[in-house]
Amino acid sequence: MSSSPPPPALPGQPAVDPLANKAQAWSALFSEPMSALVQRYTASVGFDQRLWRADIAGSLAHAGMLAAQGVISAEDLASIQRGLAQISADIEAGRFEWKLELEDVHLNIEARLTALVGDAGKRLHTGRSRNDQVATDVRLWLRGEIDGLHGLLLDMQRALVELAAQHTDTVMPGYTHMQVAQPVSFAHHLLAYVEMFARDAERLADLRRRVNRLPLGAAALAGTSYPLDRQQVAHALGFEGLCQNSLDAVSDRDFALEFTAAASICMVHVSRLAEEIVLWMSQNFGFIDLADRYCTGSSIMPQKRNPDVAELARGKSGRVIGHLTALLVLMKGQPLTYNKDNQEDKEPLFDTVDTLAATLRIMAEMVGGTRDPKSGAWTGGITVKKAAMEAAAMRGYATATDLADYLVKKGLPFRDAHETVAHAVKLAIAQGKDRSALPLATLQGLNAHIGGDVFDVLTLRGSLNARNVLGGTAPAQVLAQVARHRTRLQA
Ligand code: ARG
Repeated sequence: MSSSPPPPALPGQPAVDPLANKAQAWSALFSEPMSALVQRYTASVGFDQRLWRADIAGSLAHAGMLAAQGVISAEDLASIQRGLAQISADIEAGRFEWKLELEDVHLNIEARLTALVGDAGKRLHTGRSRNDQVATDVRLWLRGEIDGLHGLLLDMQRALVELAAQHTDTVMPGYTHMQVAQPVSFAHHLLAYVEMFARDAERLADLRRRVNRLPLGAAALAGTSYPLDRQQVAHALGFEGLCQNSLDAVSDRDFALEFTAAASICMVHVSRLAEEIVLWMSQNFGFIDLADRYCTGSSIMPQKRNPDVAELARGKSGRVIGHLTALLVLMKGQPLTYNKDNQEDKEPLFDTVDTLAATLRIMAEMVGGTRDPKSGAWTGGITVKKAAMEAAAMRGYATATDLADYLVKKGLPFRDAHETVAHAVKLAIAQGKDRSALPLATLQGLNAHIGGDVFDVLTLRGSLNARNVLGGTAPAQVLAQVARHRTRLQA
């Protein structure tokens, strides 16, 4: 009976389970055991054990299909299911003994299964290779992680939208070339990041479709002679489609590249926001303050409160971009099909997921604030210093374009208006005052069309209100955007 435990090895004969004896030799072909250094060098179980859930799910689907196709018996399937359930419970409880000499997550689980259920365990690998198995596991695992990251990206967007909702009338300087350019609302500035994170979420959703294709059935590289029903396995595992070429199925990792590229872009967005938070908190800007719980002190300078979280988020973008480079270089020289090089895909991929998730989580919390578990009171992570933002916008001749637009409306060609305003700014700089503080007579000296109503457009709020175009910074537009995002982001 296939589900009975394996018979003991006879004296002088090799052990029955080749996996249990892998440390000695792969098969009868090998005449000496693997060197200890090689064993350590080639093993991946130290890191790929985190794929165990996907590995077991894949094995269950494969075994179910083998039984349905009559390749293994119903009894074998029952034994495999029982054994894998036991292994799941053991891993979950931290009782599973991972063995380096069994190289990776796949061989560890398979060897344990055989120890538990005997020959049925040895039949599980029928029509399968670790090559299509590992490709399936990584895709399954990554699909779950993408869903988690998608949720974190929604949280990040919600945090930014809610902070923005409070600041549609908070004016700050908008910059180009890091020079004060035109006034914008702080809300408008924050919503720029919401757009970026929304596209990041879109990218993840899009690439998820290509991650979600089933390699199993490709076997080692050429397909298999068993009558496998790949469609059934795909259905059982929730894959949207099948990899259509067995050589491609086992060898390409472009789904991992795509994911890491999308993660890198997202980390670049986070990094830009983090950089701005660092700048805004510096004494020279003084636009915001961060709650103490997101700052660290200095061991030598007692006055210091440092925005370490934002700095680290900025720094960690470097490692994710590094992982993308590592994976691209990993793939570029590999001839078809599977090569052991591919085992190196896991650590960069795992770390990309971990880094992005941790970074999004903490940045969303810092931007969105937290509820005190005891008092229930909401405390923001970021305190916005409205007066400082507004004062900075006042200092930089930020409404110069508005004066030019005013002159255009009075009939001047735009280029002439531009030149007139340049003279006004030059005059104001020479007199050491803001241009809006120049007396009407001085302005009229530059252009006779200028009237008393000019001061309406020279104010920051006048400037904001004037930009009432879709996508513009006028409070009416920004409020509409807040409403749109709120509807879009509803749970
Ligand atoms: N641990 C291996 C990996 O991650 C599993 C596949 C091994 N296949 C093989 N033919 N050696 O790629």
